[in-house]
Amino acid sequence: FYEEVRRQDFVRNWQLVAAVPLFQKLGSAALIEIVRALRPRIVPAGAVICRKGDVGDQMFFIVEGRVTVATADHPVELGAGNFFGEMALISGEPRSATVSAATEVSLLSLYAVDFQMLSSSSPEIAETIRKTALERRGGPPRE
Ligand code: CMP
Repeated sequence: FYEEVRRQDFVRNWQLVAAVPLFQKLGSAALIEIVRALRPRIVPAGAVICRKGDVGDQMFFIVEGRVTVATADHPVELGAGNFFGEMALISGEPRSATVSAATEVSLLSLYAVDFQMLSSSSPEIAETIRKTALERRGGPPRE
């Protein structure tokens, strides 16, 4: 029974991962690893997903819906295919902004240990995520 549940989770995650363009670069072995590692989650509109100042041990990929990032200057909206929560994961610093669900949102979360796994199996994707974190930290708000 446990095996069957695991199999269903795998199939469902597989479908969700297809909504994130970043993962399309992965080869089949790395893709299987990431599909196993990601945890799906549905968040209702208005709910806070991560709060500025909190410790962050996971990052999130948006499958469907939109989130609002309350940055210092003005709020930024991120939609399907985008990700957030990578800054705390990479720097080890507290969350830089509060992120809340602008609509009901379907997410896939990736924990720090699994991010390390992704970094070694796909340095290219890890590099893209790192670059985005640096751009968001320094420059103006962006997707
Ligand atoms: P983290 O600091 O872990 O938690 C808040 C997240 O909001 C952060 O990671 C980024 O993913 C996101 N974020 C912070 N600043 C910006 C910005 N200027 N533009 C887009 N997203 C941002």
